[in-house]
Order: sequence, then C-alpha cells, then structure tokens
Amino acid sequence: MTSLSNEHLSEQSTLQSRRFEAPARVNLIGEHTDYTGGFVMPMAIPFSTVARLHPAADDRYSFSSELFSSVRAMTADDRSPRVGDWSDYPVGVLRELQQHGLQIPPFNLHLSGDVPLGAGLSSSASAEVVTAIALLSHAKATLPAELIAKLCQSAENNYVGSPCGIMDQFVVTRATADHALLLNTRDLTFELLPMNNGHLAACKIVVANSGVKHSIAGGDYGLRRREVEAGQAKLRERFPALRDLGDAKLEQLAACEQELSPESFRRCRHIISENLRVREAREAMLCGDPIRLGAVMTAAHASERDDFECSIEEIDFLVDTAVSLQGCYGARLTGGGFGGCTVNLVNTAEVDDFIAALKSAYRAKFSLELETYICAAVDGALARTAAPLGLQEGR
Ligand code: GLA
Repeated sequence: MTSLSNEHLSEQSTLQSRRFEAPARVNLIGEHTDYTGGFVMPMAIPFSTVARLHPAADDRYSFSSELFSSVRAMTADDRSPRVGDWSDYPVGVLRELQQHGLQIPPFNLHLSGDVPLGAGLSSSASAEVVTAIALLSHAKATLPAELIAKLCQSAENNYVGSPCGIMDQFVVTRATADHALLLNTRDLTFELLPMNNGHLAACKIVVANSGVKHSIAGGDYGLRRREVEAGQAKLRERFPALRDLGDAKLEQLAACEQELSPESFRRCRHIISENLRVREAREAMLCGDPIRLGAVMTAAHASERDDFECSIEEIDFLVDTAVSLQGCYGARLTGGGFGGCTVNLVNTAEVDDFIAALKSAYRAKFSLELETYICAAVDGALARTAAPLGLQEGR
C-alpha cells in the first residue's frame, strides 16, 4: 500500500490540471443496516482514487482511466443511458450534479488509484466521491458533505443501477483520520470514535482480501435488500409507530414471525441484532476495550453467516482461522458480502505472526494467495480538499 505525505493528500493545482483524492473504506461493524435507518461504523483506509481534471479545449466532457482503455466523451446535454462499464460511476455523478442545477464547464477527467476492485472496500464510492469533488471544484461550487454523499449514492442507485445504501459514500466523503465514524443512516448524524482509546492503542486493523470478487450490482445484494424491506413493511403494519428497522426490537420481530417468510425473518433478525451490536461496539470503543470490541465483531460475523447468509466458504474459513490465532480479538466479513474481505482486530505485537499464519492457512486450504493490509484510519475526501476549495465540511 502506498503511504502518502500530507502534500500529496491535499488537492494540488497547477495552471492546467488539478488533482483530487478520495480514500477507500472498511466497515468495522454495522452491515446491511444502512438502507433501513440503522447504524454503521466504518473508517476510511489508505487506498485512494485520484482524479486529475483538466479544462477541455472543446465543448465536451471526457472520462478516462488508468485501469481501463475505453474513453467516454459527451456533450453537456447528453442523456444516454449507462453503458455497463467503469465510466458509469463518474458519468452518473456528473448527471446528478447537473440535475442538482450545476453548470459544469467542459473537462477531461482522468481516474487512477490503488483501491482493490471488487474487494468490498468501496472502490465505487471512492471513484464517485472523487469525481464529485473534482467537478464541484471545476464548477466553483460548494455543497455540504451530506449532500455530496447523497448525490453519489443516487448516481449509483439511479444511473449505475446498484441498490446500495449511504454508508460508503458518506464515510469516503466525511471520514476523519484516526477515528471510526458511527453513522445514523436515518438522519445522517454521526459521532467520531477515536481508534486509540485505552488498549485499542495497542491494536491494528488488518484487512484480509479473500480474492473472491463480488459486485453489489449483482443480484444477491438486491435480493437481500428486498427480503429486508418486505420484513420491515410487515413490522410497520403491525407496529405503525416504527419508522424503520432502526427502531425495531427483537420482541416485535418475534411477534410477527408467522407473517414473514423464513428468509425475511432471519434477514430482519440480523439487522435488528446488528444495530444492537453497533451500540455495543461503540461502548467498547469508548472504553478502549479490544476484547469486548472483538467479541461483538465475531458475533456480527455469525449473524451475517447464519441469518443474513451473505458469507462464503473462503470468508468463513478466514474468520474461523483468525479468531483461533494468538493476538486476534475478533474478525468478521466486511462490506456487502458474497466475497471480498474480512476485517480483523489484532494486537500490534502479534500482527506479523497473525498475518503469516493466516496467509499460510489460506494457501494450504484454497491454494490462493491472501492479500492483507494493515490499515490506519485516514481522512475522507473533504478533509483533504475542503480548505483549498472552500467546500463545506457539513456538521
Ligand atoms: C455495500 C453497500 C453499502 C452497505 C454494505 C453492507 O458496501 O454499498 O451501502 O449496504 O454493502 O453493509
């Protein structure tokens, strides 16, 4: 992983081109709770998508990428549908900003970076947010963090066609270094939780990439979301005061069990219990207690595996192996699931041995090389660009 100095983290401008950066994210706990008004606790990690923006000599918007050979160009009034490749993400953001009323002068936007693709670390949100920040700067416009995140989510929902929640875009925009971000996805209020309280100061976050790729534009994520929303609708019929699953209690779910399909029941049980676990994780973070935090992370994995059924054999193996190793307080699948990464809380003194043992076990079982990343919590895109651009950081 590249380690970036402060000069590089801030937006750099020359007469002709400007450089912007957005991080990736890992979610510590609170999975699939962000589309029914629940809690999530992600942090931004030191991978990044870089956008270089040049004013265009002609009247077109053009998009290129270091990773893909196709170049996409269009005029300001172009309304063509998605094409199904990487360019849909930045083009979707352009569309949302235009619909929001922004007049954006012609540009060439070039994306590059090192965020692993399809690993559940939010390469999509990183590309969306860096595009939004670059285009806002180019248009000399400002928007609050919350709105930038919402427009990027809308780009993904409406243009790309993936039914994601708000977590990724929000944390990629608004994260603060050395903190996890506890977000209430119903009203987008948040609390920054220090990563180094008490004994947590002697821990590292280790992300382990199974190498099994999965896209949330695929069918599994959408199916889970529909199962959750069906359950939520039944609960609200029975308990009209409920705004969403973020308010619901396990006893209320139990009272509706006969009216729900077995799948909806288990999905909702994951969501309701996960919201409780995020609160428990918050307490553990505030007390600086890695044993408590690790235990709740591992419990969250069991719920994702058994109730939400979004894990896979490789990920379960990584979690089971991790928690059996010396120095590991807890482990779980992170992100949308069906592949991707685990997140592990590990004692710093034992982190090298932990990684070596996990890699060796994975190789022996699946003949696959495991990539691991030791991740500090870094700033989101706005903290890197807000001051020079005059953008608003929001609350
Ligand atoms: C993906 C989505 C998020 C969230 C997670 C699961 O990362 O983009 O909105 O739903 O899955 O927690």
